[in-house]
Amino acid sequence: MFYIGIDLGTSAVKLLLMESSGKIENIVSKDYPIEFPHPGWSQQNPEDWWKAVKEGVRELIKDVDKDKVAGISFGGQMHGLVVLDKDDKVIRPAILWNDGRTIKETEYLNNVIGKEKLSEYCANIAFAGFTAPKILWMKENEPDNFNRIAKIMLPKDYIAYMMTGVHCTDVSDASGMLLFDVKNKKWSKEMCDICGISEDKLAKIFESYEAVGTLKPDVAEELGLSASVKVAAGAGDNAAAAVGTGTVGDGMCNISLGTSGTIFISSNDFCVDRFNALHAFAHADGHYHLMGCMLSAASCKNWFYEHILESKDYKGMEGAIKDDMLGNNKVFFLPYLMGERSPHNNPNARGMFIGMSMDTSRTDMIQSVVEGVSFGIRDSFEVAKSLGLKIDRTKIVGGGSKGELPKKVMANVLGISVDVPENEQGPSMGGAMLAAVACGEYSSVVEAASKIVKISSTVEPDPEITKRYEEAYNKFKQIYPTVKDLYNTLL
Ligand code: XUL
Repeated sequence: MFYIGIDLGTSAVKLLLMESSGKIENIVSKDYPIEFPHPGWSQQNPEDWWKAVKEGVRELIKDVDKDKVAGISFGGQMHGLVVLDKDDKVIRPAILWNDGRTIKETEYLNNVIGKEKLSEYCANIAFAGFTAPKILWMKENEPDNFNRIAKIMLPKDYIAYMMTGVHCTDVSDASGMLLFDVKNKKWSKEMCDICGISEDKLAKIFESYEAVGTLKPDVAEELGLSASVKVAAGAGDNAAAAVGTGTVGDGMCNISLGTSGTIFISSNDFCVDRFNALHAFAHADGHYHLMGCMLSAASCKNWFYEHILESKDYKGMEGAIKDDMLGNNKVFFLPYLMGERSPHNNPNARGMFIGMSMDTSRTDMIQSVVEGVSFGIRDSFEVAKSLGLKIDRTKIVGGGSKGELPKKVMANVLGISVDVPENEQGPSMGGAMLAAVACGEYSSVVEAASKIVKISSTVEPDPEITKRYEEAYNKFKQIYPTVKDLYNTLL
């Protein structure tokens, strides 16, 4: 049988067709626009997602026996606010995970309601990109739209709704709304009251590997699939990527360098850090995870290489950086192009180069961008270590990890082994695996991962380079606190 994994990303939807054994049969990607109506704001039109998904599915399955497609599931960009009216029509563009417009609402939640209460209700505090502050923003700034809300959805759940007619979500994605009692896996009545919404405006909660329904007959016909195809709830993109890399069960680590950069630590038991610096979310394997999220990872390279240097030659530019240069760069880059979430929680932070002199080369600056992303991940890695977690190896996936250099820099900046999975598809692979579990092909997510995921190579840290990066990181970590107050005056 075949299973479709849909990764509803920020720059594109990536679709993957997986055969029962885990073999990848086809991969398709469809772009859609993103709008930045103000600096630091970001929006997308859910109808563009749906159009791209439909085109993508048709293309994905064009050469296979369509009756063999048994299930569909998702990994999706998290936290986005999709609002539907009583006729299930989209009210306004979705406000995305990297949108920083909710500074006032986030401060209200963290300081007036209070971090302790938020952590007690939801196991997390407020971050500008989370869904609850966006609901408060709409209430204050777009009261007419707010009053029309009949359903509040997350991005991938809108697609599942369009496919099945069921208003659904899954535990991992729901965790990032700040409306979900993560520990007990149910909506938080307190948070609904704080946001001024009734619980019936929220979707029905499923485990990621549970089927929410089957394709609506008209959708099945449009896609060229059978109406018996099961649609499973799926997961937030990081939990889905973790499934796709076999980061399930206790104490495993995955780093995903997509538009955002995340470090994801799976855990069989619920846990939360005392300062809520890391997100404490439910995992797609039925358990929990901790996660640090930086808002710009692959997008830093994309911005600097393609927009500023006007080159798409990633291989050539990064190939010029040799081992003896690693850890010796005098230039540092702060990767906060869309503000920063973990661990600084500052939507006003911005990108910055520092340390240039007359002999600084283009290559030094390219290197600093790759290093800045790894240092940003190290900031969250340090928080995880301070909780007593022992992480001696990680997997790595995502567009930002492509090529030799990013993996080598990451292994040496963190000082741990970096395992590279055979396929680097992360969320779409995880989505297909969740669909396979929902259809009974595997008895659990852990079983699917143990049978399907294979590691193709490992990048080991080099003691000399790691030592140099230790010193470099100690310099990097002083830059943000030094310039932090300036950011508010630069807006
Ligand atoms: C996670 C987060 C991002 C988005 C990117 O908390 O905000 O990783 O899910 O798609």
